[in-house]
Amino acid sequence: MDLLDQARAVRDMAYARYSGFKVGAAVRGASGRVYVGCNVENASYPEGTCAESGAIAAMVAAGETALTEVAIIADSPTPISPCGGCRQRLAEFGSGDVQVIMATLDGQKASARLDALLPGAFSSVSLPRG
Ligand code: THU
Repeated sequence: MDLLDQARAVRDMAYARYSGFKVGAAVRGASGRVYVGCNVENASYPEGTCAESGAIAAMVAAGETALTEVAIIADSPTPISPCGGCRQRLAEFGSGDVQVIMATLDGQKASARLDALLPGAFSSVSLPRG
């Protein structure tokens, strides 16, 4: 299964009872291993988490802190791109040249580099301890 197929498969597991909008994400760690995540909503709406956050958390829990590729899929009219917060989360672990593949269930695809999705990202280099 390629990265997008893994994102598509995990999307079925999304807990999206409030929006009805299921999202699946898959990230490839530097080791080559793939980590998946889906959105998990909450009755307290702002406490819900995005699919990308879940995939990143799984990667870090497995001991990896670098990602090389990202895929996101939803049943939307055009490919969805990661929300602002998730762009920042992805930038924490991915370099600017990481390709983010965005897709719809009906087969539309788009892709963009991470540094195009989040130009001028805030990063640890700005912090006193780097
Ligand atoms: N969502 C994601 O999981 N990833 C995104 O990049 C955009 C939005 C989720 C959050 C919420 O559960 C639902 O989609 C509707 O916004």
